[in-house]
Amino acid sequence: MKYLIINGSPRRKNTYDVIKQAASNLEGDFEEIHLIEKQIPMCVGCMNCIMIGEDSCPHCDKVQPIVEKIKECDAVIIGSPVYAMNVSALLKNFIDHTAYLYHRPQFFTKKGLVVVTTAGAGHKKVASYIDETLRHWGVNKVYKIAIACGGKETLETSKIDKDANKFGKDVESDNLHNPKFGDIIFFNVWKAMALSDNPIEVDSKFWKSSGLINHDFAPEIKLNVIKKLFSKIMFAFFKLIF
Ligand SMILES: Cc1cc2nc3c(=O)[nH]c(=O)nc-3n(C[C@H](O)[C@H](O)[C@H](O)COP(=O)(O)O)c2cc1C
Repeated sequence: MKYLIINGSPRRKNTYDVIKQAASNLEGDFEEIHLIEKQIPMCVGCMNCIMIGEDSCPHCDKVQPIVEKIKECDAVIIGSPVYAMNVSALLKNFIDHTAYLYHRPQFFTKKGLVVVTTAGAGHKKVASYIDETLRHWGVNKVYKIAIACGGKETLETSKIDKDANKFGKDVESDNLHNPKFGDIIFFNVWKAMALSDNPIEVDSKFWKSSGLINHDFAPEIKLNVIKKLFSKIMFAFFKLIF
């Protein structure tokens, strides 16, 4: 299995320690990206990635090599410390540069592990935000390890090991999970938008050339009957709206 680690902390301390502990339970090849070393300039809000294409982002030479690595891996491990009750600016800046993936999701066969550390608060909320982001990218299933390190001298490894093992078994299983209802809603928002009378050209191209427009969800994932029906209803609804 190929794991890609994305460290959103500027340091190799608490968050990285937890990532390493989690990774020690997994078997495979690991590649590490420390966002601090990538020196991605702040997103300038040009909207090029969304409206023209990700290769038109002024920072695509920094961002796309990371996205390519995500494409190549089986699973991504993404970590952030809690900063002022949110993700680090480092990670948020990377996420902002991937906003086009919300319109054009593509990691449907990948699994994710989110690692968040904090002194005392915000870890669950921040882990949920990263989970939500990965699912907007299309990631099939996201596991979370969120830890309050404040005042503790050593890592409590047993819970990390348990959660990491669950994640590792899932990655190795090749089992693809049914998406959440929320994921199906967003899939159909973007699909209906891409098929509207006045679509964003690059979205329309993506949805058509990938063949996703012909499916109720990513074709690799077999929806159960209820979710299939739900997806069809959502598509009809958003088609009307757009
Ligand atoms: C700028 C900054 C903001 C922080 N904000 C919070 C916070 O809102 N709540 C909290 O409990 N801890 C906060 N912390 C503490 C870190 O989340 C915590 O020490 C974390 O484990 C650091 O991870 P790292 O060692 O990977 O950098 C903050 C730390 C920094 C440097």
